[in-house]
Amino acid sequence: MDWLRSLLLPVEGTLYARKVDDLYLFITFVSAFFFLLVTGLLAVFILRYRRRRPDEVTPHITENFKLEVVWTVIPLLLVMFIFFWGFHGYMEATVAPADAMEIQVTAKRWLWEFEYPNGTRTINEIHVPVGKPVKLVMSSDDVIHSFFVPSFRLKTDVLPNRYTELWFTPTREGMHTIFCAEYCGRGHSDMSGKIWVDSEAQYQDWLERGDESAQSMPLAELGAVLYQSRGCATCHSLDGTRGQGPSLKAIFGEQHRMTDGKVFLVDENYLRNSILQPQSEIREGYQGIMPTFQGVLRDREILALIEFIKAQN
Ligand code: CUA
Repeated sequence: MDWLRSLLLPVEGTLYARKVDDLYLFITFVSAFFFLLVTGLLAVFILRYRRRRPDEVTPHITENFKLEVVWTVIPLLLVMFIFFWGFHGYMEATVAPADAMEIQVTAKRWLWEFEYPNGTRTINEIHVPVGKPVKLVMSSDDVIHSFFVPSFRLKTDVLPNRYTELWFTPTREGMHTIFCAEYCGRGHSDMSGKIWVDSEAQYQDWLERGDESAQSMPLAELGAVLYQSRGCATCHSLDGTRGQGPSLKAIFGEQHRMTDGKVFLVDENYLRNSILQPQSEIREGYQGIMPTFQGVLRDREILALIEFIKAQN
């Protein structure tokens, strides 16, 4: 049966995914069975009871009590069975175990922000240990988004001014993709992220040191990676087109006017301040919608982004 699962459905990343698939396949096969039964009988009846003589008349049948009971009771039992099976799974998905690790999730146009119990913050990427229950407590800063992980078979809306929850026990190490499944504006299709399911040792290592590869990468190259992974790309273009925020094309060394009339030279300090305290100075003609990256980016990552912006000249 496993070959059939892998043919029909995406990989299973959680225990829960298997249960969803069991029910899903059951409904599919029951539907297929009745489809074949009904169309098969239809074909047989067409052939067997076709009109053979021109004067043949169809007998008038008004009711068949036994047959009606059978075709009412069997489907009723079947759908009730499916209902209780689904309800059982729904309850399980709704109530997280008490010992689950909690991660706070904030959705904003158009990125996912995560905060760990120890204060570690990440954008568009989380690491979780394999085999341990994880609970996500989610809310939105702006419009309705929806947190969807196909390989976990989980999807929950993320709303402003309210918390929604989702929990899972990952069983499969490796990368799983997060999508936003609620249309939330121009950057909706870019609003994806990654869940890395690590072994316990890898996970502890990541918590302490961050990404290994990031430490050895040259600054401008790391900046290019961060520009994509931290969500800068959804608002700041590189080719001069206007987005929610100003383009980063050849801005280094320019003079920019702010909404309060002040003029700033775009240098390293200005860029650093704009990343860490985006609300302090807002460029003329734009709105102050950028989230702060204070505590999200390490010092070296800020340097890397500045180098990346310089490289756009
Ligand atoms: Cu967020 Cu679509």
